[in-house]
Amino acid sequence: MKQIIAIYPGSFDPVTNGHLDLIHRGCKLFDRLIVAIARNPEKDSSLFSLEERIEMLQAMTAEFDNVTVDSFEGLLMNYCIEKHANAVLRGIRAVSDYEFELQMALMNRKMEPSVETVFMMPAEKYSYLSSRIVREIAAFGGPLTGLVPELVEQHLRRRVAEKHAAAVGIPTK
Ligand code: PNS
Repeated sequence: MKQIIAIYPGSFDPVTNGHLDLIHRGCKLFDRLIVAIARNPEKDSSLFSLEERIEMLQAMTAEFDNVTVDSFEGLLMNYCIEKHANAVLRGIRAVSDYEFELQMALMNRKMEPSVETVFMMPAEKYSYLSSRIVREIAAFGGPLTGLVPELVEQHLRRRVAEKHAAAVGIPTK
């Protein structure tokens, strides 16, 4: 029987409980789910390095046998072909996500008609959650409980402290 291999692409800077909710749902639907971090060396203003993002995602998905974590550079459709993937998983939280997601899905379909984009909704409690908002809350020392796993919260607190120390000229190591 045909195996359904899905790619769940994103920046994951950092992974949130919303992403994890989608991974939990996706791994029940697909035979294999590859969580793939998009690398963009030209404009990389990420809070976390690729290695840190991979490490956090691997730790948070270790319990799922059919989930792997990887990264890719360039077009998502080329990466799908390379991985023999037949689906792309994307989350839609609210109507505001729809326009951009539709544009991406249709453009991807034009480039590679054999790959279907599948949209899933995370639990309602994560419908207002994004990595950008999480980074902002962390930057101002706000509460992160329920938004990201404890491990990610620790990474965020440490990175914010490092950035603060660097800004005021205190060595951290
Ligand atoms: O987490 P994000 O930032 O919403 O993820 C966006 C991502 C990485 C899925 C998207 O930018 C992407 O697919 N980038 C790879 C380059 C590509 O294929 N671009 C054409 C999309 S139509």
